[in-house]
Amino acid sequence: MDLPGLLRLAYSAERAAAYAYQGHAASVRDAAERARIAVIEAEEWQHREHAARMMRRLGVRPSRYLELKYAVIGRIIGWSCHVIGYFMPMYFAGRLESGNVNEYLRLIELVRGTALADEYACILEMARVEKEHEMWFLERVSGHPWLPRFTGLFGWGEGRSFNSFSPGERAAG
Ligand SMILES: [Fe+2]
Ligand SMILES: [Fe+2]
Repeated sequence: MDLPGLLRLAYSAERAAAYAYQGHAASVRDAAERARIAVIEAEEWQHREHAARMMRRLGVRPSRYLELKYAVIGRIIGWSCHVIGYFMPMYFAGRLESGNVNEYLRLIELVRGTALADEYACILEMARVEKEHEMWFLERVSGHPWLPRFTGLFGWGEGRSFNSFSPGERAAG
């Protein structure tokens, strides 16, 4: 995917995530967990603002198709959190966040040598925050009896991440 395409995808997918976490937070009983998910939602809105700024700087407009598609996906996931119990929303959120880390690491590569090269630190910070989200959701499901089977089916879980990002890592600028 090229730089405009990845920015458009990130911009729309961040709102999907924020919508999904609105539903997720509302479905969780524990007040501390609800508060943490609300913070995660706020961080996804921040990511969307960063993506918006980068698109403006490049003269790239959001995709109306992706905006609609991801708004619908985000709302459906948000609603579904109320009916599928505790484990699955936590598991699939962590799995999704695990992939998000890679999208921002890929974005760092794509901005190199472009007008957005100076966004490097901001994008790295977004990757770090997504990693933090991934690890928080992993903690919620770790030790759950369903986790090994889900990890086998969906490829993510304890010791199985889609990214090899570790906090403090610095990709070459
Ligand atoms: Fe995000
Ligand atoms: Fe996230």
